[in-house]
Amino acid sequence: MKTIDDLGVAGRRVFVRADLNVPLDSGAITDDGRIRAAVPTIGRLAEAGARVIVASHLGRPKGAPDPRFSLAPVAGRLGELLGREVAFATDTVGESAKSTVGALADGQVAVLENLRFNAGETSKDDAERGAFADSLAALADVYVGDGFGAVHRRHASVYDLPARLPHAAGGLIATEVGVLRKLTDDVERPYAVVLGGAKVSDKLGVIDHLLERADRILVGGGMAYTFLKAQGHEIGASLLQEDQIPAVQGYLKRAEERGVEFVLPVDVVAAAGFPDLSTKAPSEPVTVAADAIPSGLMGLDIGPRSQELYAAKLADAATVFWNGPMGVFEHPDYAEGTRAVAQALIDSPAFTVVGGGDSAAAVRILGFDEEAFGHISTGGGASLEYLEGKTLPGLAALED
Ligand code: 3PG
Repeated sequence: MKTIDDLGVAGRRVFVRADLNVPLDSGAITDDGRIRAAVPTIGRLAEAGARVIVASHLGRPKGAPDPRFSLAPVAGRLGELLGREVAFATDTVGESAKSTVGALADGQVAVLENLRFNAGETSKDDAERGAFADSLAALADVYVGDGFGAVHRRHASVYDLPARLPHAAGGLIATEVGVLRKLTDDVERPYAVVLGGAKVSDKLGVIDHLLERADRILVGGGMAYTFLKAQGHEIGASLLQEDQIPAVQGYLKRAEERGVEFVLPVDVVAAAGFPDLSTKAPSEPVTVAADAIPSGLMGLDIGPRSQELYAAKLADAATVFWNGPMGVFEHPDYAEGTRAVAQALIDSPAFTVVGGGDSAAAVRILGFDEEAFGHISTGGGASLEYLEGKTLPGLAALED
């Protein structure tokens, strides 16, 4: 892959595909981690005298403008973090984009509106995606791919556009790939992986792959209840993906055969209903054994004994990869499991990688120092697909 140094950017219009897909609450950014991660490449290009055109998706609008997913607040925050003025185009390839880009002087930066306001961005139809990529290409002279969080998407700005312009990888992509390579090429053992999040179906590919590589797999979050059920335990009203039980049973069996240690919660923090995340009003949590969750109660976090168990399983690891929160960390009654795992990563001497939108946001929202971790990836799905060994369209497109 070429780097920015190979491109020659001074005085040229440089299209930077970043991943500025940050969580918003009523238009306010609740975690600006991805914007901060994009700043070094954008700042460097501006310093080098490029006319920088920053583009990203935000959320999943349906191929048409939707003010709830506008990148305007993101452009404002980017300007603050860069310490320079950032212009904003209110469309992607229309009059506003053309005039905003046309007005850029060397060293200036503009952000385009959400790429997914145009149906061509995510279209499954090559011609429709290609037509949008053509319009984006007309805005720029060169392309820098730096949106690691989106490289697993075969989207116009990620996959089709670099084929139309001289291209290079930005610093963020180079860093992310360098770190993830350590987990796939020659990993230091013991290699422990912590997986959480709501759905086991999102993690099937990575579990399949990790069964060949990891020494320990620790499971928490909503997906743990399908594992507990697969072992024949009562899980009350907890989240269950019944159709995944055969797959999960297969994984547990393979893990046993291969000597991979599968660690499941031994206790959970449960409640009669899902907590109110907007008011964060106190709920009535109870701690119960994980193998006998009473009917009517739903597990919402791993319990204190599980937290100790997971910390012990990470204490002597040499490498740890963590993706997915252990519970509903957005509510204070169910944040302790996620907090305990984050702390266990910090306390472990291992090289630690936090992968994924939710776990990375959890680390920051719970107030941990990002520097205390080996690496916090900006990619959720992207880092999982990388670990699965898949070819990622946005990385393949940056190859020379
Ligand atoms: C992410 O949040 O993982 C990336 O920004 C990709 O977003 P997407 O899953 O909506 O494509």
